[in-house]
Amino acid sequence: MSTKTVLITGTSSGIGLAAAVAAARAGWHTVATMRDTSRADALTKAAAAAGVADLVQVKRLDVTDSDSVTACVTEVVAEHGHLDAVVNNAGAGFVGTIEQHGMEKVRDVMEVNFFGVVELTRTALPHLRASGGRVITVTSVGGVVGQPFNESYCAAKFAVEGFMEALAPVAASVGVQVAVVEPGAVSSEFVNNVGLDLPALLAEAGPYAPALQGYVNHVRKSYGSHSAQTSEQAAAPVVEALTSETVPLRIQTSGWARDFVAVKLGDLDGSAVQTTMTGWLR
Ligand SMILES: NC(=O)c1ccc[n+]([C@@H]2O[C@H](COP(=O)([O-])OP(=O)(O)OC[C@H]3O[C@@H](n4cnc5c(N)ncnc54)[C@H](OP(=O)(O)O)[C@@H]3O)[C@@H](O)[C@H]2O)c1
Repeated sequence: MSTKTVLITGTSSGIGLAAAVAAARAGWHTVATMRDTSRADALTKAAAAAGVADLVQVKRLDVTDSDSVTACVTEVVAEHGHLDAVVNNAGAGFVGTIEQHGMEKVRDVMEVNFFGVVELTRTALPHLRASGGRVITVTSVGGVVGQPFNESYCAAKFAVEGFMEALAPVAASVGVQVAVVEPGAVSSEFVNNVGLDLPALLAEAGPYAPALQGYVNHVRKSYGSHSAQTSEQAAAPVVEALTSETVPLRIQTSGWARDFVAVKLGDLDGSAVQTTMTGWLR
């Protein structure tokens, strides 16, 4: 049997980079995509250090650029003859409440985190049907539990979860398995990439400033504590979802993430989540 091929988005850093190396270590031909291929250094070094450079191929794909999505998938299928899995990993956080920013920001967050996922999935599906493949999407615990000052980001991740949950039985009817992977805090480039100017955000927050300060304190604690996973730890379940015989729809990457999501899934009137989240603002 020929080597299976997976396409992963957002592999210049963090979970995507770690997943690309781990997928190659698991024997997959890994098409590691990123929107700017001049940022491939960290990935190529990590792949070489793991002894899998020959299985990792870097290609350009910006999830917000339709042409790049089509071009990349077409190229992969032309070169390898098949596509066996897609990992929708690219994503970007955004902090702020709705009175602090315009609608454009909400749309930008949806473009990267939701429409980008939909577009690549749609483009890959005919090839995944042909191979009996998988769609694995990195969402977040924030795709299940709405978190303060993350309205737009959580809305996008909720949208992805709803999209994938609805797609799963339909895709299964044509032999394609669908899964979402839900990390909690991961010590990747994620927080840096949000590009927060905290003093400016607090200065603009007006009546929301005390709650925002409480939220920032909470986040500092959770990313600084041992509860944050490494990118490698968060990537391991992604690769397991690629390689295991069967895959559940929803996978949490840690015990903390499992407990956190479990509260929401049993929270019929929403009060348990509201109590927890109010606690994050003190
Ligand atoms: N870190 C966490 O605490 C955490 C928690 C839950 C879920 N997640 C999710 O995990 C996934 C991976 O994030 P991470 O933690 O590994 O953060 P990261 O280190 O910031 O990686 C995000 C990746 O997405 C890429 N990306 C951003 N916009 C893109 C676009 N338009 N097209 C293609 N790629 C794009 C980034 O590329 P550039 O280098 O070009 O910016 C980067 O490679 C994301 O979906 C994120 O929402 C993260």
